[in-house]
Amino acid sequence: MAQIKNIGVFTSGGDAPGMNAAIRAVVRTALYYNLEVTGIRRGYEGMIKGEMIPMDRKSVSNIIQRGGTILKTARSDDFRTPEGRQKAYDQLKAHNVDALIGIGGDGTFTGARVFSEEFDIPILGLPGTIDNDLQGTDYTIGYDTAINTVIDAVDKIRDTAESHDRLFIVEVMGRDSGLIALRTGIAAGAEAILIPETKSNTTALFDRLERGRKDKSSKIVIVAEAEEAGGAFEIARQVKEKYPNYDTRISILGHIQRGGRPSCMDRVLASRVGVAAVEGLLAGKRGDLVGVINNEIAFTPFDHAIKHHVDINPNLLKIVEILSL
Ligand code: F6P
Repeated sequence: MAQIKNIGVFTSGGDAPGMNAAIRAVVRTALYYNLEVTGIRRGYEGMIKGEMIPMDRKSVSNIIQRGGTILKTARSDDFRTPEGRQKAYDQLKAHNVDALIGIGGDGTFTGARVFSEEFDIPILGLPGTIDNDLQGTDYTIGYDTAINTVIDAVDKIRDTAESHDRLFIVEVMGRDSGLIALRTGIAAGAEAILIPETKSNTTALFDRLERGRKDKSSKIVIVAEAEEAGGAFEIARQVKEKYPNYDTRISILGHIQRGGRPSCMDRVLASRVGVAAVEGLLAGKRGDLVGVINNEIAFTPFDHAIKHHVDINPNLLKIVEILSL
């Protein structure tokens, strides 16, 4: 295996708070081991177009606390084609990049897996997505910040809900996953959560509302954007139809969940996996997601990290039910 001299780092897919901390960790670790680092802008799209810049210690100064990604991000259709990937490879060679660390989610590693099969370039991935829907790590970079953003918002909604005796349907993100809804439902004291993993439906929600205490002045229902009952608007419509007496409102939190200063947990996670990825490349690792499982660094093949759905912990679901009495 050729010796690695220059690591390319990029962020791809939806941004997540803590991506900057991960970039910083990769750059500083590479420099620590006397390697060069190339920042690739706009993910695979920038790779294809040759948007590459050398990075030094200073280029990652004062970014650990910033949300978003200084390298910018994109979703690339061209990279899905063999021609696009060939162009990306040619650009990497032209910029003397001989290994890659990609920070992103499912789509990022699907691309990375294909790319590493087609070309002889070692790639490792860091889990950067607010959705927390990757195998191979207990938590993804950005998840902790996002769930804290959600509970901050729901606490505020609770103030107004309580003042007006209202029921709020709050929709949170998670493209295919209810993990944001599950934890924030517990932490915000939700009446019920609707998530895709449990094939939740409005009948179960009605049942919950029937069985719940009637003297509560505010009620919060958290809905994952991916759940199958039809999203916050459809659920609210059905609730209004069944319970015309409830004063029901909808709040869709949206992209606010992706922004903001990363939490301490996300910065530490990003720093740990960033260091481990550079050291992993030097030790000959390739084609793996670098995560943390049971507080230990873990390397998991891309194939496994992206294909296997993350199971919902039934104990957490039960907690929502018990505590919303
Ligand atoms: O994967 C992160 C995520 O924020 C999902 O939760 C959400 O479904 C999606 O990205 C939104 O993507 P976009 O920013 O392209 O609308």
